[in-house]
Formats: sequence, C-alpha cells, structure tokens
Amino acid sequence: MRTFLIAGNWKMHQNVAETKAYFNEFTKLVSKAPEGVSILLCPVYTSLHAAADAASSVDGLHIGAQNLHFEDKGAFTGEITAAMIKETGADHVIIGHSERRQYYNETDETVNKKTKKAIEAGLTPVVCVGELLEERKEDRHFDVVRSQVVKGLEGISKNDALKTVIAYEPVWAIGTGETASPEQAQEIHAFIRKELAGLYDEATAAEIRILYGGSMNAKNADELLSQEDVDGGLIGGASLKPDSFSEIVHFAGKIYSS
Ligand code: PGA
Repeated sequence: MRTFLIAGNWKMHQNVAETKAYFNEFTKLVSKAPEGVSILLCPVYTSLHAAADAASSVDGLHIGAQNLHFEDKGAFTGEITAAMIKETGADHVIIGHSERRQYYNETDETVNKKTKKAIEAGLTPVVCVGELLEERKEDRHFDVVRSQVVKGLEGISKNDALKTVIAYEPVWAIGTGETASPEQAQEIHAFIRKELAGLYDEATAAEIRILYGGSMNAKNADELLSQEDVDGGLIGGASLKPDSFSEIVHFAGKIYSS
C-alpha cells in the first residue's frame, strides 16, 4: 500500500531566519505527519541545516535539497555533493527539476547520474519529469515522459528503483496557476506506472510513489490527491506558506484514512 509524500520545493526563497520562522509556525499546525503521509520540505542549501534541526522534532517530516552534483569531490565551483547534503541532516534530493533542465542544461543523462549518486549516498531522489506546453499541444507528452523516465532510471536496479520517487510536473503548469486536471494527472500517472511495470515488474511499479507538481494548492489538492495513481505533490508556491502547505498535508491524511 503506497503512502503519500507531500513535498515542498522552496526554490530560491527563504533564508535561515525565514526558514526558522516557517518551521516554528508549521510545527504548530502539524505536530506529526498524519498516518499514511510523509512530509518533505526542500529549502535552499544554506537553510538545510536549520531546516533539518527544526524538522527533527516532528515525526514523518523530512528535509531535502533541490539538486546535487554526481561527483564525490573535485573542481566544480559552486556545486555540492550528495554526502555534503546528507551531512546537513537532509535525506531527500530533488533531481532534474524542469528549471534545472531549462536554465542549467540538465539532461536525462545527468539526471540518471545524479539519481544513482543520491541512492548510493542514502538520499531519496525525487526525479522530475514532464512535458513542455508545445509537446502537449502536439500530443507528444506520453513519448516525452516515457523517454525521461526510461533514461532517468537507466541502469538502476529494481531494489534501487524502489527507493526512488517520481514527480510528474507538466512544465506548462509550473508557477503558472494552470494545473493539469485531475483526469489529465491520473492519465499520465497511470501511464508512468505502466512504464515502470515494463522496466521492472507490476509489484515494483505498484510501490513507487508518483507525485504531481504544477500549481498544486490548498484549493485543488484534494481532487488531485484523490486520483488513484497520484501519491502526493511537489509543491512550489503553495509550500512557502505554512498554512496552505499544512492544509494539503491534512487533505492527504484524510484521503489516506478514508
Ligand atoms: P508550483 O511549482 O507549485 O509553484 O507550480 C512546482 C514545482 O516547480 O515544483
């Protein structure tokens, strides 16, 4: 039985003081993760330590980074390793977010290397896939997403795939206020699960969590999370406010126990 993962991607927001204030507020609203729900917040690198300290008092609340480098050390100015992330107390990492693919030339190949490195270091990778607006308009979204999933997971064993989370984030829905309809989300999540079954087997595919991301908020989360193959959310804007993010967490708890 899959459980929910409700994840917040803070992007380049919230310094250390703001992070501390956020957790102060959030932990009043969510003193522990509801049954069947894990919570993840992904702040900027410099706030990871403070976030991990604050999160340690809440059962089921995890901290993740937004990126990593796939090498263990070296002359890579401005980069950070998986082990360094782990050292902060974080246990997850977002990989291949569409903004990284768009602005920092990340490819399916680097996504694959980073995913392997995260697993090796004991971090749970949240691997992002999703099509551009024109790809959906041209009806190529299934092909694009299939290719991202297959290449992203290339050479990753069944055991390691089980440690991976997939996030489907249609690029046209990120930060735009436009959301995939619950039916659109379900359709492509079921498609991703079918691809995972092809790569591994049905039982493995049934266990891997597939999150939806793209303008998810306290108004639309209930319907999206109620879809059979939607196992959580990767939430940007609405995760920056403790009240809206905690509302989504509680929705997931209600859906799980209903
Ligand atoms: P959004 O961002 O919720 O602000 O659309 C989601 C994401 O980019 O992960």
